[in-house]
Amino acid sequence: MQSRIVVTRRIPDSAVELLRSAGDVHVCERDRALDPAELHEVVRGAHGVVTMLGDRVDDELVTAAGPQLQVVANVAVGYDNVDVPAVTGRGVTVTNTPGVLTDATADLGFGLLLMATRRLGEGERLIRSGQPWFFHLGFMLGTGLQGKTLGIIGLGGIGQAMARRARAFGMNIAYAGRRRAAPEVESELDARYLSQDELLREADALSLHCPLTEQTRHLIDESALAKMKPSAVLINTSRGPVVDEKALAEALREGRIAAAGLDVFEREPAVEPALLELDNAVLIPHLGSATVETRSAMAELAARNVAAVLAGTGPITPVGA
Ligand code: GLV
Ligand code: GLV
Repeated sequence: MQSRIVVTRRIPDSAVELLRSAGDVHVCERDRALDPAELHEVVRGAHGVVTMLGDRVDDELVTAAGPQLQVVANVAVGYDNVDVPAVTGRGVTVTNTPGVLTDATADLGFGLLLMATRRLGEGERLIRSGQPWFFHLGFMLGTGLQGKTLGIIGLGGIGQAMARRARAFGMNIAYAGRRRAAPEVESELDARYLSQDELLREADALSLHCPLTEQTRHLIDESALAKMKPSAVLINTSRGPVVDEKALAEALREGRIAAAGLDVFEREPAVEPALLELDNAVLIPHLGSATVETRSAMAELAARNVAAVLAGTGPITPVGA
């Protein structure tokens, strides 16, 4: 009997092809997340499931699928939608897609930093509004990046890629996080390891690259924002709930920090209404990994993980193992 593989949303054809070589593939031909009842219905009888952001993968999903379930491949590097101990505790392998989205996400992060510091969204809105404007020396001034300090929370793959871009723009690198980076990473980036409080105080721009966990939920809250410079810019391409969005909107409105560039939101796809009113908030709809090349690579890596587990050769990029 062929293995049954369920894909919870549309994925690139190249990945579907890879999955077809590993089993009988059922793709939910839609772009929105299934609600939990629909999700539990479609995974029934699956040996492998390909999931995405917004799909809750937990004990109930494993029960709904049945005892033949072997692997859940999440098409994302983040896996806060997966209760990893519960799922792996039932003998099911969980995989993610690290590495393949590192550059795309860092590009987007750096784009947000430029947008926020050079007021690019605001400038675009001005032109489109049809308001008259003219070049003068005080017109729509932003701030430069050269010689400024980029503070990174979470110097993993994406944080390092962000730091490399910042170095090319003449920025200095400091970082904080649960783990200290390897000495060769610190020396390549000339990166200083600081406590989180020191980093908040020193950073001219603060970029978040940590996973969402119980420890990082609302890591950037009112008290963290209060430690930042009034001239500082916050960039978030990690997960929305790492930032208290209401507190951020207040800080931006009152000029307690200068600007923010957000690719992710606390109650995605909803956005805190107060942010919509603010010219110093750059708001992008979770596009960090959204390039043709990267999305194909992510889906293909998930497919290869499913195929490897079903073939008994073991996962390529497991989590919680
Ligand atoms: C996307 O947000 C991811 O975690 O890959
Ligand atoms: C600006 O447009 C300049 O030419 O300096």
